[in-house]
Amino acid sequence: MNDQAQQLREKLLQQSSHPSVLQHGSRKTKVIAVASGKGGVGKSNIALNFSLGLLQKGQRVVVMDVDVGFGNIDILLGISSQKNIVDLIDKGLSIWDIIEKGPNGLQFIAGGSGLSQIFQLDESKLRYFFEQLAQLHGYADVIILDTGAGMSENSLRFLLAADEILVVTTPEPTALTDAYALIKMTHSRKPDAHFQIIVNRAASAKEGKFVADKLSLVSRQFLNLEVGSLGFVFDDDHVARAVKKQQPFSLVYPSSKAAHSMRDLVLSYLQQENEQTKQTGMKGFISRLRSFWK
Ligand SMILES: Nc1ncnc2c1ncn2[C@@H]1O[C@H](COP(=O)(O)OP(=O)(O)OP(=O)(O)O)[C@@H](O)[C@H]1O
Ligand SMILES: [Mg+2]
Repeated sequence: MNDQAQQLREKLLQQSSHPSVLQHGSRKTKVIAVASGKGGVGKSNIALNFSLGLLQKGQRVVVMDVDVGFGNIDILLGISSQKNIVDLIDKGLSIWDIIEKGPNGLQFIAGGSGLSQIFQLDESKLRYFFEQLAQLHGYADVIILDTGAGMSENSLRFLLAADEILVVTTPEPTALTDAYALIKMTHSRKPDAHFQIIVNRAASAKEGKFVADKLSLVSRQFLNLEVGSLGFVFDDDHVARAVKKQQPFSLVYPSSKAAHSMRDLVLSYLQQENEQTKQTGMKGFISRLRSFWK
């Protein structure tokens, strides 16, 4: 790392909102992809508000927008990001140059509209991209990837490389069928992929559980695969209102039903996380990304 990049990294570390920041340097970074089969089911809102929830619990989080062509985390935050992954590659910026700060000190990396070019990079640029990503090792506890919907090869690469995949579905049969198709496809490419279901826009806790159980059941029956569940987020008009205000719903409407259910989701994740040991850090993520790149 050159001097300037080192200084930027130190500055970002110091600015991070939680005092635990400097104590956890040796913890492995976990990469979590937020995915869905059908589009528009709430991935970006969940990625963002889930990240804010983890941040509030003292985790060091970086959200990365890898929704090729349609990234919008910055829009949801009302921040017009100055730099993004495309700039990192095109202008040779460091990873520290492109980390932006959102509310509560949430750190995020915008994708940029030309992000699809990362799949056509020549070897030296690709190596540079991976080297920069690798620097996040030890810097963040969790990297949340907001991915594009569906089963395009582009999003699939990020899912396959992640340590864990949060599959977002709504209770609608079309979303559920597409979520199953996504699980099936990813599982066939990577049999040890680890999935957790999130049911968004549930009318009740009962519906949330029913939908998650249904998806786990078909996965067990037809794929012989155990798929866990993190819980549900209520269907709540406050989400659309927050989107219009370009502010995260958990911050602008903290007592809404959606925000309450999001907090439960975060707690459920943290509880399960303690039971889990399999984490391969940025090194594992990048080596898988590389192997699935071709
Ligand atoms: N829990 C919820 N309650 C009510 N409305 C919701 C909820 N979650 C999401 N929505 C609505 O769905 C819209 C789409 O959400 P979001 O952009 O997060 O979906 P997405 O899965 O990221 O979409 P894309 O596939 O296009 O990336 C929101 O703007 C909001 O209007
Ligand atoms: Mg989205």
